[in-house]
Amino acid sequence: MRAPVRRPGLTDRSTPIRSRSVSRYPDPYREVDAQADPSKLLESLEVRARTPSHARLRRRFLRFVPIRRGDDVLEVGCGTGPILRDLITLVGPRGRVVGVDNSRNAVRAARLLCQGHGRPHQLAVRLADGGRLPFAAGRFDATIAITVVLHVADPLALTREMARVTRPGGRVGLQDQDFGAVVVSHPDRVLTERILRGVVDRVYEEPFSGRRLPSLLREAGLTDVRVRTSVYEDARLVPWTKNFLERRAELAVRFEIVSPGEAQHWLDGFTALVAAGAFVFTINYYGAVGVTATRA
Ligand SMILES: C[S@@+](CC[C@H](N)C(=O)[O-])C[C@H]1O[C@@H](n2cnc3c(N)ncnc32)[C@H](O)[C@@H]1O
Repeated sequence: MRAPVRRPGLTDRSTPIRSRSVSRYPDPYREVDAQADPSKLLESLEVRARTPSHARLRRRFLRFVPIRRGDDVLEVGCGTGPILRDLITLVGPRGRVVGVDNSRNAVRAARLLCQGHGRPHQLAVRLADGGRLPFAAGRFDATIAITVVLHVADPLALTREMARVTRPGGRVGLQDQDFGAVVVSHPDRVLTERILRGVVDRVYEEPFSGRRLPSLLREAGLTDVRVRTSVYEDARLVPWTKNFLERRAELAVRFEIVSPGEAQHWLDGFTALVAAGAFVFTINYYGAVGVTATRA
């Protein structure tokens, strides 16, 4: 029997570490349903969606695509559906919104949380893999994926599939964070770099996905590619940031990058900075949009 392990925490040190993932991949969002506790992952998506800085950068991206009134829009990797709920407002009563996700738990949660948003039959959520979309070619005016490219095995196949189901002259939009663009204040910068870089290198195949989005759209055959950068910022250690840093500390211990004591020392450094009003945390988010070719 394994000795009980304590999850390093910023405030509550008594929270026990969760049981190990049963997924084949260290990235939990690649196979949400194979995780020991999918509901915890899905709840964190809702926490993120409610965080004001995140809500602002997501809506800024939707304006950038742009999503117009009357559009028929597909969101790939919709999770619990916060973006579907934004989309239904943007497309208005004549538009339609469809979300797909490869997680049954996410689809179930999205259907529940989207109930009452829009008119009946205006919003649908389906179980599907983004690399094999169950839609006819040219079906949608705009197709988007927000913080999904980072998690898929073949981002180019996903982007090509999104382009296929988008009408000629329609828009394909991708938004992703870039883990090479995380800035956080901490007295021990070497330890901070060791933990942040060490964890993302082990979890994600492409931790710097944000900066790759424009070339991905071009490789998928899209034209008129535009890019907009937005920044998630937090100077107060809001719940989403706190969970992000605690999760990094937990994984750094699991991957034996640092000892549990070092991880806790790292987290204590943030607690002290917050108390001193000197905490700064930012992540760059890149939005890229391309246009599908019009037929000759
Ligand atoms: C980080 S979440 C983002 C959810 C949502 N877009 C948001 O921003 O709140 C990534 C989502 O992509 C889904 N996903 C991962 N790989 C996928 C794939 N190949 N096809 C469809 N969905 C996928 C996951 O199940 C998860 O719900």
